[in-house]
Amino acid sequence: MPHAKIAGIGCYVPERVVTNHDLTAFIETSDEWIQERTGIKERRYAKKHEETTTTMGARAARIAIERAGITAEDVDFIIFATLSPDYYFPGCGVLLQRELGVTHCEAGTLDIRNQCSGFLYALSVGNQFVRGGVYKNVLVVGAEMHSMGLDFSTRGRNVSVIFGDGAGAVVLQPTEEPGQGILTTHLHSNGTEAEQLAVIGPGSHGGYYGNREEYNFPESEFGDIFVYDGFEATGAHFPNMNGQLVFKTAVVKFPEVIMEALNKTGYQPSDIDMLIPHQANLRISQFVQKTLGLSDEKIFNNIQKYGNTTAASVPIALCEAWETGKIKAGDLVCLAAFGSGFTWGSALIRW
Ligand code: ACO
Repeated sequence: MPHAKIAGIGCYVPERVVTNHDLTAFIETSDEWIQERTGIKERRYAKKHEETTTTMGARAARIAIERAGITAEDVDFIIFATLSPDYYFPGCGVLLQRELGVTHCEAGTLDIRNQCSGFLYALSVGNQFVRGGVYKNVLVVGAEMHSMGLDFSTRGRNVSVIFGDGAGAVVLQPTEEPGQGILTTHLHSNGTEAEQLAVIGPGSHGGYYGNREEYNFPESEFGDIFVYDGFEATGAHFPNMNGQLVFKTAVVKFPEVIMEALNKTGYQPSDIDMLIPHQANLRISQFVQKTLGLSDEKIFNNIQKYGNTTAASVPIALCEAWETGKIKAGDLVCLAAFGSGFTWGSALIRW
């Protein structure tokens, strides 16, 4: 059975740089607070009405496709991970297909809703399609346009200062080269903490899951027939996060899922040439680095420049690490992510 290799990689971040200082113009926060807690100095915001999650994904995808030595017409299957889609439905997969001009209808598309772990889930699904011989060119994209859905009031500042916009993409192809490509992937979840990092409105729950104020959307004039009138006032349509629980769980699950990948393949932490953690918070990455005993050259962080771009963070970081020569042919590269769901995952790749 062949392995799947990353045949092409690309990333895109919008031009507009928003520094912590810029944020203080409309959020009650400070550069000092943000840098001390998260390591973030600036992030990118997309141009409203000109860019969307899909168009950013397309820019990254075009680069990945070109570097893979194929054309958009060669793409057999598209997997798109995001929590900030252009539409509630249909998903970004079909929009990307249209944007790229993949006109042959044999190319299927799949949307992945696993937030910060979305790219790891997408990569893992793509890997299975390639390994099983179903597809030869699978396009895997992670993209987010957070800036259009953040709560810039004091209520939401713990989340809004973290997030940024951007996109990353890879093309997976089969390789017969022994020991090359994606060696293993590991995916996990724990739905008992689903609301600890979530956008809960609008949705079909209508108060089903609990008594928190934001669950109780106002009754509609149609009585029991639920409509979404008025949910905006509750803030339920913005991301809500129990930051401390996310932090505490992440620093346990990151090393755990990385060790799972290493144990499966018979490697040690010292064998890793480059760790690309999901860029959630620089403090989380530093904690993981210390736990695994990795030197500074063996971990890549760019959250300082881009903030947390959720499903896009791993492919953007992977792309930048590769473009700057920090990942070379033959390197053992580990990807890992943890986020809303809770969901988490890892992948080990021989580059
Ligand atoms: N600026 C200034 N003050 C703030 C801000 C802000 N942006 N946000 C919160 N505060 C204040 C709070 O009001 C609170 O003030 P108080 O003590 O007077 O009540 C104080 O700072 C502490 O607030 P906390 O929310 O408890 O802040 P915490 O120390 O937990 O830090 C942070 C927040 C940075 C978000 C941290 O919890 C964290 O990084 N958690 C992990 C987040 C993460 O990794 N998310 C990734 C997943 S994202 C995804 O999957 C979609």
